Amino acid sequence: MTDTVTHPFALALEAWYADHRRDLPWRGTRDPYRVWVSEIILQQTRVAQGYDYYRRFMERFPTVRDLAAATEDDVLRAWQGLGYYSRARNLHAAARAVVAQGGFPRDYAGVRTLRGVGDYTAAAICSIAYDQPYAVVDGNVYRVLARYLGLDTPIDTTAGRRRFAEAADALLDRRRPGLYNQAVMDFGALQCTPRSPHCDGCPLAAGCQALQAGRVDELPVKARRTQVAERFLAYIYINVQGNVLLHRRGAGDIWAGLYEPLLLEFDHRPTEPEVLASPAVAVLGAERGTWRCVARDVRHVLTHRVLRADFYALTLPRLDRVPEGFVSVPEPRRADYAVPRLVSLLYERLSR
Ligand code: ADE
Repeated sequence: MTDTVTHPFALALEAWYADHRRDLPWRGTRDPYRVWVSEIILQQTRVAQGYDYYRRFMERFPTVRDLAAATEDDVLRAWQGLGYYSRARNLHAAARAVVAQGGFPRDYAGVRTLRGVGDYTAAAICSIAYDQPYAVVDGNVYRVLARYLGLDTPIDTTAGRRRFAEAADALLDRRRPGLYNQAVMDFGALQCTPRSPHCDGCPLAAGCQALQAGRVDELPVKARRTQVAERFLAYIYINVQGNVLLHRRGAGDIWAGLYEPLLLEFDHRPTEPEVLASPAVAVLGAERGTWRCVARDVRHVLTHRVLRADFYALTLPRLDRVPEGFVSVPEPRRADYAVPRLVSLLYERLSR
């Protein structure tokens, strides 16, 4: 921990970064609020997509006080389309905690207590905003270190996580931790890519163990393949005299607090008669209105799940009462209600 001699690995990486760094809107700030928001966005979103969201989020909520003062619906609307909405709910709750504490925490332990902030994000914030010596370990870092050091301990095991955390800490440039961490991440994203890495002309080639051993394609190693389960959904877009019925999802999953049309879930691909016969649809009296299939088998891929959805539209002349848990929204005001990506796909298909 007391070693402050910069490793040749770090020097080569920082020289590469000086020429290749990405010009990103959150670079050049050391405001911990801005660094925090950018890192939360980038947890599950590619830089190219996160870029515009970050800008809009900052225009809408320029300070942590603005974010704390907003409603959860406002925050979810700003997040709409990014997915993994617990990030937005956690940001909002944590912003309120920060304001209640009188300011952004100044050390790792304090930052780590914020909702939604794990080891990676705490290290990123403390190194980038405060230049504190915490090495980030994300997917890019696993890949770069596995290859450079020739480490084949599976990264999704306790032993692997420990091994890589130690290696990352040993290579960290303690004089410039914020710059170094961002250099490794950009290097992993641009040069040492998962497939077809640019080993020709790589500034780390001479010391790269995987390259010497011809194992670049094999590293990093994972013990398990991610299990991807399929879920089958049917959305029914109900329109009653120009009003749309939307349901606000309760707590408990990734879409909590977002709105959606009537949703049915199945453990198999449902046929159209099956959807029509389900109690939630039958009770509406679909035969009184017009029913149509909007799209079949629209796929939406999440980390551990593939959603396969059928979309239907039901137009009713009237409805005696709005079903429990639903709001009736004039169709032109639909955009005021934040929806999951899958529902925006439904909206797009409806207008085709
Ligand atoms: N991925 C996540 N955070 C990043 C950052 N600060 N720079 C580059 N890539 C990142």
